[in-house]
Amino acid sequence: MTRSAEDVVPLARPVLGPEEEEAVLGVLRSGQLSLGPQVPAFEAAFAARLGARHASAVSSGTAGLHLALRAVGVSDGDEVITSPFSFVASANAILYERARPVFVDIDPRTLNLDPDAAAAAITGRTTAFLPVHIFGYPADVPALERHGLPIVEDACEALGAVHAGGTAVGARGHPAVFGFYANKQLTTGEGGMVTMASAEHKQRIDSERNQGRAPDMGWLDHDRLGFNYRLTDIACAIGIAQLDRLDDMLAARARVAGWYRELLGGIDGLGLPFPDTGGDVRGWFVFVVQLPRGVDRDDTVRALRELGVQSKPYLPAIHLMSFYRERFGHRPGEFPVCEDVAERSLALPFFPELTQGQAEQVARALRAVLHR
Ligand SMILES: Cc1ncc(COP(=O)(O)O)c(C=O)c1O
Repeated sequence: MTRSAEDVVPLARPVLGPEEEEAVLGVLRSGQLSLGPQVPAFEAAFAARLGARHASAVSSGTAGLHLALRAVGVSDGDEVITSPFSFVASANAILYERARPVFVDIDPRTLNLDPDAAAAAITGRTTAFLPVHIFGYPADVPALERHGLPIVEDACEALGAVHAGGTAVGARGHPAVFGFYANKQLTTGEGGMVTMASAEHKQRIDSERNQGRAPDMGWLDHDRLGFNYRLTDIACAIGIAQLDRLDDMLAARARVAGWYRELLGGIDGLGLPFPDTGGDVRGWFVFVVQLPRGVDRDDTVRALRELGVQSKPYLPAIHLMSFYRERFGHRPGEFPVCEDVAERSLALPFFPELTQGQAEQVARALRAVLHR
């Protein structure tokens, strides 16, 4: 049966309205499309929202990770301990600086870097940790802080997440990087933000995102290597409008997650996202289930599609991607928890405007497919 696009429950969809349209038009009318006032305005609003001292807007989460790693001093031949269960950008950014991503296995409940495994992997060449707050669940950054090494947090999926004790993810002081691609909690189309406590880091990142120019923008005074990782004023204006509706969007995502949890509870062998525990609060980004062992995931995706439900294997293990295998000789079996989770993970449709009826359709379809 062929379905029209409206019949299909999509994986993700941004919330955009007249406020974003007005914001874009305002910038177009102003004539200042880049390096204008929207950039510091978005940075200030974002930092204030999280309780972070500084924020720097950048062209993507990946760009932010690259600049944050440089800011904490990662360079040639260094080792950076990180998670193999992440979007590939977190490991790639380490390679941009010719450093080595040292993967360690993950905690089977939170799916974040296992702090004990991270501690065991420290060597004389370890320069930093790069924990990833995967699927918006706070990584155990406090446990990593005990080692006294620099930390760069990949918070690209974790806007709205809060650590036990009430500090927002991204406000512990380490450079923390958020992403604003269209499926994220807040979107600017493409874009990112680095939050941090250090004024020195802020200055370096602001310069390096803009070709290494001096902070006073003195023409032609490029006293260091830089990049073009700037975020446009158009994107920043959209970001400001999105920040205004962020509480509503986060609450809507949490509501959808609550429906799924109820509707999918009790399916034999199906793993649901780890519930908030010990004071940590997830910033809901995706709703990823672990299929029961022995179920063919590709078949499941096909069968769900026939029932009008989009789904996606999410995420593959980074160390088993062909580039990483070839470059570093990684093999299956190195990180068994990560590999088991990566083989069974399936992202279901998840976005703020998903209706209860659509959640029921998804749950009905998944039950039907798993009980065939
Ligand atoms: C965990 C993680 N890290 C890094 C990134 C990279 O962000 P971007 O796509 O904005 O470069 C993403 C987002 O796609 C992500 O999910």
